[in-house]
Amino acid sequence: MTNVDFGQQETDAVALPVAHPFENLDPRLASLAESGELRGKLGEAVLLHDPRLVAAGVGSRDEVDADALRTAGSAAARALSRVGGTLAWRLDATLPVPLPEQAAALVEGTILGSYSPGRWKSNDDTRLVERIVIVADETPELREAVERAAVVADRANRARDLANTPPNELTPATLAERAEELAAEHEHLSFEALDPDGMRELGMGSLLAVGQGSSNEPRLIVLRYEPPNATNRDFLLGLVGKSITFDTGGISLKPPGGMQDMKGDMAGGAGTLHGIGALAALGTPVRAIAVLAAAENMPGGGAFRPGDILRAANGKTIEVINTDAEGRLVLADALWYARREGATHVLDLATLTGAMELALGDFYAGIFANDDDWRAKIEAAGAESGDHVWPFPLHPRYRRYIDSTYADMKNGSTLRQGSPVLAAEFLKEFSGEGPWAHIDMAGPGFLERSRGDYLHVPGGTGYGVRLIAELGKILS
Ligand code: BES
Ligand code: MN
Ligand code: ZN
Repeated sequence: MTNVDFGQQETDAVALPVAHPFENLDPRLASLAESGELRGKLGEAVLLHDPRLVAAGVGSRDEVDADALRTAGSAAARALSRVGGTLAWRLDATLPVPLPEQAAALVEGTILGSYSPGRWKSNDDTRLVERIVIVADETPELREAVERAAVVADRANRARDLANTPPNELTPATLAERAEELAAEHEHLSFEALDPDGMRELGMGSLLAVGQGSSNEPRLIVLRYEPPNATNRDFLLGLVGKSITFDTGGISLKPPGGMQDMKGDMAGGAGTLHGIGALAALGTPVRAIAVLAAAENMPGGGAFRPGDILRAANGKTIEVINTDAEGRLVLADALWYARREGATHVLDLATLTGAMELALGDFYAGIFANDDDWRAKIEAAGAESGDHVWPFPLHPRYRRYIDSTYADMKNGSTLRQGSPVLAAEFLKEFSGEGPWAHIDMAGPGFLERSRGDYLHVPGGTGYGVRLIAELGKILS
């Protein structure tokens, strides 16, 4: 947990955002600016010694925004990766970002930037920034903004840790244990998990099928957040996360290249888990339930096959065309469960299709929704938080591509077109009554390489945590 504080204090380093053209530059930076060694370029951090001073570039003065400040925060943390400890941030009133927002973005970037994915190295010598001091007069608004940013960024890092945890360590059962531990941290957060017997009782043939090829049994993991101060008792936010702890593709086996990254196929679940954790930590007055559909997709002797016909909990039958289209199968039963528990507004997060990553790359996720107002709220939360979403369509005319000769629908199409949309059309069959939105985060959920911004290392990004925290604020 990163600590935040205010005022003039003894720290291991001081950092400040530097925009160009320079204005009121710190005298210690003057000669570096003159020599051209300091340019204020976005993401470039210059470190001086005795005492340590980090000049963190935020780019062109009139283009500075929260995103640039997050990137500068991350660059400063990385410049101090051999130092760690306590970092003081000097704010800059000449920048076009209000001080609370400025401080929040710097704190968020610092925490995200000091994350190391090397937890499994025998000696990871990365030193983390553990405490951040804001050099400014403390106001309630400023304190609230930075404390909130620290909580949310810490939770995002915890979600990254889950996504980066190797699949031999993170199985559906151990993911359930992590969820149980999280619930124990918060008074108003409760935990429950269904094992295969529990799923069978509810008729979850779709989720069960995906998990049946692995000796690591599936789990339906449920977290309920019931704040006593809920502003609307009739509203229940339903968060559903794809949590495939490893996706080999099953019998429709994936090619080996890059398969190791399929440990990140539970990133949607990690985002919903620590997203609801963030709501609880922040005391957000919005009731919520998180449902994680956890399974390992393996080609074992007991595995499900192409040609199998499954019956999902809502009674609909599904012909399996491709066992690698497993995400929509596990989500089908989890979406039904969220509605059964009374979710009025549902949002699912899933690393669902490779084509979504091809389309949008590592920055935007795609969003599909059956309700314009619900989608607009999520888009706003995405833009504000940095977990960006871009709208994609649903339309009944796509439905024919998942028509099956034998069953109510099939889980894949032989057509190599529109696969993110067909996946969303499939999910729609299980989304029940009321507003529902689906985020396909295959691109930004798990990085193959640094994004060059505040997400500077490969692996899990914590996508969804910041978005859910912001959505909670919008819904409050
Ligand atoms: N988990 C994958 C999607 C994915 C691919 C996420 C690459 C992140 C990076 C998903 O289960 C999958 O395999 N989808 C298939 C669906 C197809 C078989 C209809 C895909 O997109 O190829
Ligand atoms: Mn798959
Ligand atoms: Zn998958």
